[in-house]
Amino acid sequence: MGRTILIVYSTTDGQTRRICERLQRVAQEQGHRATLADLEAEPVPDPDSYGKIVIGARIRHGRHSPRVAEFVNRYRTVLESKPSGFFSVNIVARKPEKGRPETNPYVRKFLRQVSWRPTETAVFAGKLDYPKYDFWDRAIIRFIMWLTRGPTDPGTVVEFTDWQQVDAFGLAISRMQ
Ligand SMILES: Cc1cc2nc3c(=O)[nH]c(=O)nc-3n(C[C@H](O)[C@H](O)[C@H](O)COP(=O)(O)O)c2cc1C
Repeated sequence: MGRTILIVYSTTDGQTRRICERLQRVAQEQGHRATLADLEAEPVPDPDSYGKIVIGARIRHGRHSPRVAEFVNRYRTVLESKPSGFFSVNIVARKPEKGRPETNPYVRKFLRQVSWRPTETAVFAGKLDYPKYDFWDRAIIRFIMWLTRGPTDPGTVVEFTDWQQVDAFGLAISRMQ
């Protein structure tokens, strides 16, 4: 059980899952067996059967999925008894001043809401994919981008994720004990 990691995630458009797959690869290169599980799909494996647990969650309309806090509350004792990690994926994190767990508003809010203190915490910038969004989502995101001086051209597809940062977190979760 020592070198096993459970990585649970919540994703809508797939970027958080892609980040988890990268973390899985890094952990495997470090000699771990890493299992991915979608929090929105039932059933999620019992985290107590793994040596370490990592939770990744995307932001939509200012919120993580309620499944994330539910999972944390349900398994709080297990999470507190093992090395654990948390990361959030959002578009605000593309700004350097909001790109660290201590400065990202969503990570700060999440950690205020739960009593769990992960061993390692991270925040990654997500993906902007206007052509994929429906009319209202596109309109809302364009407005937010206009407010925050980001791209507003409705054809824009940009991956803001810094994969080196993801690899560094993959090493950190492999090493935590
Ligand atoms: C409808 C919608 C709402 C979003 N709301 C926010 C938001 O409030 N704040 C933010 O920083 N990013 C927001 N984003 C950006 C997402 O966090 C980003 O696209 C991320 O990569 C999505 O992760 P996923 O692909 O795993 O679902 C939003 C994206 C969409 C499509």
